[in-house]
Formats: sequence, C-alpha cells, structure tokens
Amino acid sequence: MQVPLLDLKAQYATIKTDVLAAVSDVLESQRCIGGPKVTELEEKIAAVSDCKFAIGASSGTDAILNSLMSLDIGAGDEVITTPFTFFATVGCIVRTGARPVFVDIDPKTYNIDPALVEQAVTEKTKAIMPVHLFGQMVDMDPIVEIARKHDLDVVEDAAQSITSTYKGSKAGSIGTLGCFSFFPSKNLGGAGDGGMIVTNDEQLHDRIKIMRNHGSNPKYYHKFVGGNFRLDPIQAAVLLVKLAHLDEWSEARRRNADFYNKKFADTIVETPYVHPDCVSIYNQYVIRVPRRDQLVAHLREQGIGCEIYYPRPMHLQECFRDLGYKEGDFPQAEKASKEVLAIPVYPELTDGMKQYAAETILSYPAR
Ligand SMILES: Cc1ncc(COP(=O)(O)O)c(C=O)c1O
Repeated sequence: MQVPLLDLKAQYATIKTDVLAAVSDVLESQRCIGGPKVTELEEKIAAVSDCKFAIGASSGTDAILNSLMSLDIGAGDEVITTPFTFFATVGCIVRTGARPVFVDIDPKTYNIDPALVEQAVTEKTKAIMPVHLFGQMVDMDPIVEIARKHDLDVVEDAAQSITSTYKGSKAGSIGTLGCFSFFPSKNLGGAGDGGMIVTNDEQLHDRIKIMRNHGSNPKYYHKFVGGNFRLDPIQAAVLLVKLAHLDEWSEARRRNADFYNKKFADTIVETPYVHPDCVSIYNQYVIRVPRRDQLVAHLREQGIGCEIYYPRPMHLQECFRDLGYKEGDFPQAEKASKEVLAIPVYPELTDGMKQYAAETILSYPAR
C-alpha cells in the first residue's frame, strides 16, 4: 500500500466541477488582475478570521514581507522570532534590512517560548513575530502583554494555522496583523502560490493595499517603494471553492489525529501536544521519535510519505551566518530538528491507510 504525505488529486476529484466553473468565470471575464473574486475572498477570509480587513497577497512570503514593509520595519530594527520555522519567516525580516533575534521554542508545542521573549527585547526591537506552527497557535497572552509594555507590533505568521484558535480567538486576529499562506499543501491551498494579510487596523490596511501595488496611489504616483504583492484572481477563484470545505477538512484532519493519538498512546512515539487553550487544525501531524532518520528510511521503504519540518533551525542556516549564532544557542529547536517527523494526516486518508501508517510506525522502534 502507498500512503503519500498528501494527496491533492484525491481532494481535487471531490471539487473538480466547481473549481473548473470558478476558473472559467475568471477567464471569461478576463479580469486577470484583482477584481470581484479577489474582493470576495478577502471579505470571506476576514470574516472567518474575525478581522475587519483582509488583503490578498501573491504568497504567504509576500504577505509577511508586505506586512513588515508596511510597518516600516527596516535597517537598524530588530524583530524577535523563532528559529524553528519555515525559512520565509526569517528571510522576510532580513530582506527588509532588519535583524532577526531568535528565542528558543517550547519543546512541547514547538512554538516560540513566551517566557523567553522579554529578555530578548532591546531598544531596537520593533516587532515580535510568533509563528503558529503545524496548525496550533502560540500562547499569545504573554506575547501581547510584552508587546504592549514595550510598544511593539505583533506580526502573526499564521501561514500554517488559518482558522485555528487560542482561547477562542482566531489565528491572525490577536496581533497587529496576521499572515496566511495558500501554498497548495496548506489546509486551505490554492492551485499555485497565494497568501493573505488580516488586520483590524484601517490605516494599516490602506497602507498594505498601496504597498502591494508598488506603493502607488494614485497609479504612477509612488508614495513609497512597494512591490507586486497581488493575489491572482484565478487563485482567488479556486480558494473560494475550497474555503467552503475548510471546516469539514480541518475536522477530518482532527479525526485522523485522534486516531493516531490513540494508536500511539503509551508507546515510544510522542504525539503532538495541543494546549488546552488551543484548537489545532493539524496542518501537519508531527511525531517525535528516537532514531528518527532510521524511521524515515523505513517509512520510505514501506511506501509511507513523511517529511521533516524542519531539519535545520534558522540560526544554523548558512545564509544567516553573519547573525553570529552558533550550535547550542537554541537547544530545544536543535533537539526538535533531530527528532520530529510529519506523517500523513490529510483529510482524504482512508481508515486502511491510517491503520497501515500507524502500524508501520509502531513496528519500527521494536525492531
Ligand atoms: C511558517 C510559514 N511561514 C511562511 C510561509 C510562506 O508561505 P508561502 O510558501 O505561501 O510563500 C510558510 C509556507 O510555506 C510557512 O509554513
């Protein structure tokens, strides 16, 4: 049996007619930039995120970059974030000219450890960028308190956590703004790249909208240097179809996670910890195991997809050498990078596939 990490063809088969009709609408209209589909998606993403405003973006990366640029973050500034994240979080900070300042993670949730954040604040700190990893939000209350005390912005990297909640608040709705990714493998993924920024700040919303069009307002008159950060209407059309299914898909992921949680209870396999204040959307289901790399080889041999998110923390990346971090600086992030493994949790997994994946994983450590 083959169990891929993700099977987008299985999902597409269930929505194909609607997707083709929605894409055809855009093509027939020939509104190829902006237009009603983008506006409708922005309104709907704002609504599901309990935010007043949403601004489409060309990718999750560009959502983050636009956010930082619109907050005027740049050379001489510092942004506090986690070293255990996808590259884009940190790459965007560096691209603005600001310096990323890392804080280690909570080993249970893999999210930034709020208890370590305040000691990283300096007079140069402009923002904190918590990343809601694997579908679960960061413990946001202490982050917000530190931000208030030191007058900092909070940019939520919610690329992996759209519609997940913390104490009932939606991802993206707690900070100054929140950024989503519609990369195809995400819970809500397009047929290509896409992203979105949400905020309750009207002035910031206006600035982000101008920034995404090269900072021009009116056209050909540039207030500041922005970029082409626009969401493609064909992507918006696909995403509108998929958004209608998001809750049911997230529910199916949670059911799959419950299945694994029961299977792995009292075994050598450490299951994902979900804080009682949080509802996870399980963008990934990440286990922790000893001898992880041997398990990876075993799963590949047995036809089971898996992926290491992330094998090398950001402070040890070659391109960030100049930041001056070294091995041992963030022991929890480093340990996690050697032990974590994401296994298939996508909504269309059949009972047989889950059973096979779980049993294959459990058969391994005993060998
Ligand atoms: C935590 C995190 N931040 C940012 C991004 C960037 O999103 P995108 O791939 O849409 O540019 C991703 C997605 O891969 C992500 O997982």
